[in-house]
Formats: sequence, C-alpha cells, structure tokens
Amino acid sequence: MLSSGVVEWPMTRKIIIDTDPGIDDAMAIFFALASPEIEVVGVTTIFGNAHTDVTTRNALSLLEIAERSDIPVAAGASKPISSEFRGPAASVHGEDGQGNVGLPAPKTQPIEKRACDFIVETVMDDPGAITLVPIGPLTNIATALEMEPRLGEALGGIVLMGGNAFVPGNATPVAEANIVNDPEAADIVFGAACPVSMCGLDVTEKHFMDGETLDRIASYSNRRARHLSAILSWYRDFYREWMNIDGIYVHDSTAIAYVLDPTLFETVKHPVRVDTTAGISRGKTWPAVRRSADERPWEGRPDVTICTGIDSAAATELELSALSR
Ligand code: RIB
Ligand code: CA
Repeated sequence: MLSSGVVEWPMTRKIIIDTDPGIDDAMAIFFALASPEIEVVGVTTIFGNAHTDVTTRNALSLLEIAERSDIPVAAGASKPISSEFRGPAASVHGEDGQGNVGLPAPKTQPIEKRACDFIVETVMDDPGAITLVPIGPLTNIATALEMEPRLGEALGGIVLMGGNAFVPGNATPVAEANIVNDPEAADIVFGAACPVSMCGLDVTEKHFMDGETLDRIASYSNRRARHLSAILSWYRDFYREWMNIDGIYVHDSTAIAYVLDPTLFETVKHPVRVDTTAGISRGKTWPAVRRSADERPWEGRPDVTICTGIDSAAATELELSALSR
C-alpha cells in the first residue's frame, strides 16, 4: 500500500509452470526465470514430450543450469486421467527430451508432494495471486481442479499453450499435441471458473524464430543460452527435415509472452469444448463461435480468451532480451 493509501498492484505475476520439457519448454522456463515481472513459485511436471520421470529430471536440470534450484519441482501424473499415454515425441525433442545432448543427472530431487497437491496447496494459500501456466498436457491441472472445487475461484488465471481453434492440428491432422495427450483433462480445464487464455497453434504458428534469431540466442554467453543453443540444434533440424524451413515455431514461450504483455496479442472470446470421443477428431478444441440451433455442450461454459494473432517481432525481442541477461 502506498503512503497515499492508493492500492499498489503487484509488480510481479506469481506463476506455476506445468511442463513436459521438452526443448521449447526449456526456452519458456528460462524466459520466465529471466523476466523480473514474473515470480516462478513452482514447477510441476507432466508426461508429453517424454515420460514424466524424464521431464522431471529435465525440469530439475534446467533449474540447476539457471541456478534456481530454490524453486520447488513437483512430479506429476505419468498418464492421462482416463486413457493411455500416446507416447513421447522423441523425434521432435530427442529421447531425453533435451535434444539428446546428454545432460548429466540432476543433483537435486523433486519435492515429495505430487504436482496436483502442490498446485492446490500453493493456490489455496495465496487466493487470487497465482496464475497457472501449463505448457504440456493438462492432466495435473484437471486433477487439481477436480480435487479442490474452490480452486478455480482461487486462481488468478490459467494461461496455457495448447489447442487449435481455427487451424489444423500438429500431433494429428485435427489436434494439437498437449490437448490430444489428454483431451478429457483439457475439457475440464477449459471449463474452469477463472480466466483461461489459450495460446494455441492459431497464434504459436504465427510466432516464428528464424535461423538468424536462433543464431542470436547461440551468441549469448550465459549458461542458459548455451544450453538452449545446444538443444535448439536438434529442434532446428527437426523443422528443417519435417517442414523444410530454417527456424522454429515458438510454442511454449508464447504463453510466457502472454503473461508478460497480453497487448502483443489479438484475441477472440468463445466457450471451448474438447472432442473426447475415440474418433478421428479426438483432441480437437472446438469454440462455439456463433449462436446455433443446438449448443447444449457449450451452454453455461465460460468464455476462453483464444489468441489468434501476435506481434511476433516484439515478442521475439522481449524473449531474446530476457535470454541474453
Ligand atoms: O504442440 C506444441 C506443444 O507440444 C508444446 O508444448 C511442445 O512442448 C509439445 O509439448
Ligand atoms: Ca511443452
């Protein structure tokens, strides 16, 4: 409170990152840690790019590289809430989830608490203050919301990387990887009683870092940038082989950029449901864009802020400025 009695809004956003590192996850984690406007109060891990034991080891290693092992890491679910894990994305992120660079085993350990318990306890202890930033499958988030019915009201918000409202999928022709890895969980999260912002492929595939930008990251002399340079080499090769482009789509960091400066984004607001059937559209995120004869599945659902555009150059400079520190 300022002496004048005017309420002083917090200068920093407290976030919990729920992550499946993952090469682009590593970028996002370092981006958040190097941004003074963000306080990372915890990291929770999930399966996705690799199995949860691997993503947990990677999260610990990334915090060691950033010299932030003060931040607790809580291991999360090893499989989706009601289906089997589709399997890791080794071709995209390497067998080890970090471009097969051969990271040494972390010296630190995760805390005893499960990810969902850590999320519930941390949020309920600080009502309204915590934003969840999931950048992997949404199993931990959905489990936490189901465990504690008051969690949605107690959250400051959820800013997630995942989904595809108006564009094709990437994990399947229809669905984006984080959502199709646990569609049932995602459908719960998009119905949460807090502001939910979706940084899906609609915006992340408009946020491209070209080869020259990646070379700039490689030129930075800090430990974080040196690790990113090593793992981005694998990711850049993946994009070159799969899409014949030199550069990468900036998926997970886009959620951090949104936390830092939502004015860089174009958005629309619609209720969102997820296809949880076993058919070819499983995992597709469906916004209810206009009134229709039968919209019962969307009735009563809150609007989700769906990101559809970004000032990619400005977001790139915001991230590179942080990564260069
Ligand atoms: O579709 C991209 C998402 O899937 C990113 O979070 C990436 O890390 C993978 O998890
Ligand atoms: Ca991820």
